[in-house]
Amino acid sequence: MTASFITTPIYYINAQPHVGHAYTTMLADAIARSQRLMGEDVFFLTGTDEHGQKVARAAQKAGLDTKTFADQVSSTFRQMCADLSISNDDFIRTTEPRHYAAAQEIWKRVEKAGDIYKGEYEGWYCTVDEVFVPEAQLVDDKCPTCGSKVERLKEESYYFRLSKYQPKLLDWYRDHPDFVQPEFRLNEVRTFVEAGLQDLSISRTSFTWGIPVPGDPKHVMYVWFDALTNYLTALGFGSGTPEAETRIAKYWPTVTHLVGKEIVRQHALYWPAFLMSAGITPPRRIIAHGFWMMGGAKMSKSLGNVARYQVYKEVFGLDGLRYFALREMPLGQDANFSDEAILTRFNADLANDLGNLVSRATTMVHRYRDGVIPEAPADKAQPLDRELDTSVATAIDAVKANFQAHQVSLALQDTWTLVRQVNKYIVEREPWKLAKDVKNTDVLNQTLYHGADALRVIAALVDPVMPDAAARIRRMLGVNTESWTTLRAGALAPGTKLGDVEPLFPRIEKTVEELRNMSTGNESAPTPSPAPAAAPTAPASPAPAASPAGDGHIAIDDFMKVELRVAKVLEAEAVPKSKKLIKLKVDAGTDQRTILAGIAEAYTPEELVGRTIVIVANLKPRPMMGMESQGMVLAASTETGPPSLVAVDPSLPAGARVR
Ligand code: MSP
Repeated sequence: MTASFITTPIYYINAQPHVGHAYTTMLADAIARSQRLMGEDVFFLTGTDEHGQKVARAAQKAGLDTKTFADQVSSTFRQMCADLSISNDDFIRTTEPRHYAAAQEIWKRVEKAGDIYKGEYEGWYCTVDEVFVPEAQLVDDKCPTCGSKVERLKEESYYFRLSKYQPKLLDWYRDHPDFVQPEFRLNEVRTFVEAGLQDLSISRTSFTWGIPVPGDPKHVMYVWFDALTNYLTALGFGSGTPEAETRIAKYWPTVTHLVGKEIVRQHALYWPAFLMSAGITPPRRIIAHGFWMMGGAKMSKSLGNVARYQVYKEVFGLDGLRYFALREMPLGQDANFSDEAILTRFNADLANDLGNLVSRATTMVHRYRDGVIPEAPADKAQPLDRELDTSVATAIDAVKANFQAHQVSLALQDTWTLVRQVNKYIVEREPWKLAKDVKNTDVLNQTLYHGADALRVIAALVDPVMPDAAARIRRMLGVNTESWTTLRAGALAPGTKLGDVEPLFPRIEKTVEELRNMSTGNESAPTPSPAPAAAPTAPASPAPAASPAGDGHIAIDDFMKVELRVAKVLEAEAVPKSKKLIKLKVDAGTDQRTILAGIAEAYTPEELVGRTIVIVANLKPRPMMGMESQGMVLAASTETGPPSLVAVDPSLPAGARVR
């Protein structure tokens, strides 16, 4: 059995996961699933990159010790995997002891090879991107990548003899032309290496949140030296066990690192150089994808223009989100994440093309053959049926080849070519007309059989991208999961009993405007409800949709009227002459405001500053104690007990909507 190892980057934990992280993870998942369907022995790894100065700072800002903060944010990435049905075999955290062992082992090997020496580093450092930025690249004295302020740092540092590896790297690129894909990315790296390499600073003394350098613990490893080694940690490297040896031999170096294009250099240059020095073969392949853009810029947590995957999953379902993301972005290129694009794709490709096919192909078997797949002997097949078989075979080959080339968007394109061909085939055959005359029995049987058989293949082909939809189609067809190694046209057994037909992708009737309001957390505009019949005697009654149902329930619209938002306490002071009130100045995301909160019996002003709280942001301001309170703080309490502030993940930005 062929072994395959696929990885995502390990994600920084300075903020919550967004569509960008979700994308790489879903892409890797689809590829891993396709490889499993091809009968390969797959090991799929993802995880979080937790060291470095910016994590320590974010924790400090959140008022948490660094490990607690890391645990909290890392768990949101683990949750993302669960939310997106990611089939990863391991989730690695760089704060785990197994990773310390692996990173230190690599360090020792590199040191033994004579490739580490002590020096002094001085330069402009961007703590957002964790990189020293050459002075010539600064833009208005700021980081050219993220626009943050850079800091001048000078410190004792260990260096890696990267310059020594220039010829070896160039040889490697020459001998492995498909080392980086798309190919032009390899050319970029090659050009960079050809221009000459400087030795790389690989340790820091200015902070402690990192892996100690073996033998000199006042130094911690540079985050990239630490982070890249995660790929070997997960195989057991550094543990010294025989099982680890077996796993490494099995999965290394047949590894595919899936990365965003901004971290190709680290993967295609630093990583092979570290490995060559440590006497380990470089990875087989690095696949670089493009960026999701929003509002003309890369979607990124530092810019704040991020789409939350949760919102899109809620509206379009997991399959809808996975399909859109993997279809819309051709490998290596950038794509726009827009509400228009996802609505259009969902309704055109899923509700219309695939949804209609599933409904037609299954309903007609129920209607004309009591839900049982009829015999369709090959000698009675007509050219149209045989053509469809050929289209099915062509699609299977094309989809497999594109998955092998990691071109998931193209694979979906091939699948949809088939979906449209099958729809056309059914329309051309007009089974509803054939059914009217028994002399058409053979042709009708062929039509029913071929429609359902092609749908069976389509379910298998969409399986890596939309595992839930594939399972639902199979249930409707009464068939089991199929391996891609034996997938072919004509394998559906006559006599198969179909399951119940269910709508696969009901059309989404939301407008772009409504969707935008959801995704940006704006309160959705209240739906105007029909006015009560204008009988002159009718009392003016509230609109029906907004009124409580009379059984103690409220409509979701009612709840959504209350704008709950995350806020950060900037200042807090006791209110003179009040036992209960504390005056808070909070950052509510869009504005700073004053809120008087009745929590003085439970909290001192000092312990409130810096806290992340939840407020009702659209409460009518009201006068209190000669001041104006512009909102309300959420706290829980029993009848007699002290109030306890409602807590949310402190890494959430001010203004995030709570719902
Ligand atoms: N921790 C490093 C990677 C270390 S790997 C040994 C890192 N982390 S990150 O949190 O910044 O994640 C970067 C990755 O997230 C990108 O390489 C990409 O896979 C994904 N994306 C983040 N934003 C993205 C977009 N706007 N669009 C597409 N992918 C994005 O870098």
